Amino acid sequence: MSAALDPTTRLLRACRGEPVDRPPVWLMRQAGRYLPEYRRLRAGIPFLDMCRDVSKAVEVSLQPVAAVGTEAVILFSDIFVPVAGMGVALDFAPGPVIADPIRRLDQVEALALRDPRESVPYVFEILRRLRAELAAQRLPLLGFAGAPFTLACYLVRGKGDPERRYEELHALMRDAPEVARALLDRLAEMTVQDLAAQVEAGAQAVQLFDTWAGLLSEAEYRDWVLPGIRRIVAGLDRAAAPLILFASDAPHLVEIMAESGCDVLSIGARVEMAEAARRVGRKVSLQGNLDPAELTGSREHIFARVRAIAAAAAPARGLILNLGHGVTPDTPVEGVRAFTAAARSLGNVGNGDVP
Ligand code: CP3
Repeated sequence: MSAALDPTTRLLRACRGEPVDRPPVWLMRQAGRYLPEYRRLRAGIPFLDMCRDVSKAVEVSLQPVAAVGTEAVILFSDIFVPVAGMGVALDFAPGPVIADPIRRLDQVEALALRDPRESVPYVFEILRRLRAELAAQRLPLLGFAGAPFTLACYLVRGKGDPERRYEELHALMRDAPEVARALLDRLAEMTVQDLAAQVEAGAQAVQLFDTWAGLLSEAEYRDWVLPGIRRIVAGLDRAAAPLILFASDAPHLVEIMAESGCDVLSIGARVEMAEAARRVGRKVSLQGNLDPAELTGSREHIFARVRAIAAAAAPARGLILNLGHGVTPDTPVEGVRAFTAAARSLGNVGNGDVP
């Protein structure tokens, strides 16, 4: 039996498909309203102010380490923070609300491509501080960004869609394709700069959130989304920081997303892990895919589900245990703890032997 890996080595190895002692674990939206300590710190402070307050953001980012035993820390911020840095007037209620939804070319051209280290400097200060805080525990630090299509869903509609359809962007793609392309290109350009600066500031891996990509057919994805993702992948030093690509509900896009050049594909709960592993082969590692609702189950249930996911992922080149989408505000903290404990209870599940 080899000695246990430290959490940073384990996560980076899992991303690259190198042998690990067991899968690492973290959760999307692990810092948030399900944690009483988050609600206490957030009380009375607008969400964007929280994101800009370096010491509060550092504290919130670290809360899930002690509270639920997560094995990676993700920067506390939002995918719309760098968009605000482009000059877009927006608010959170609780999701993003855009004062002037973007539908015309002049609005796209007005989106400023400034150096994010100047437009949103606090993001990089938070990362630098977190990296210093995490060194002793050897916990990995994750950066993130929203993918162009998902950002555009909100920017064009102006707010979240309770029906989860985002038809306004689809309509723009059909009726004014040059505007839709210019918007997606501009967002990709901003994201390349943002993620590069996050890596420079200490992020050891980055996740690209393309939450709503599954709204597109495979052909639409190839035409409208894949070029932007490839551009972002090409703009990153992936030897310095691997890239995780996430979509929340896109069972039909598993193969094409794995073709983007990402290191890890983060899958939703609607595709079976075994099937995803078969479909991606050894091209990418996998992350996911426990349904967040399962965290309301018993500890035994959560342990059994985690064992099943790990076993199903055995043919994959690597696995990072996570949810199929973010933790919801009504999730019991106990369930989240059981999830990370279940990961720690796993032995090697077949993704190669530790040398
Ligand atoms: O994962 C983390 O813990 C890191 C921080 C993080 C937040 N948002 C904090 C947040 C991350 C990675 C995000 C990503 C994000 N933001 C996405 C992609 C992932 C996903 O969940 O689909 C999207 C689409 C957004 C935009 C956004 N921000 C929405 C739709 C909402 C409202 C939904 C909700 O949870 O209420 C937000 C607000 C937001 N972002 C909160 C947090 C902790 C809640 C704000 C509050 O405290 O009121």
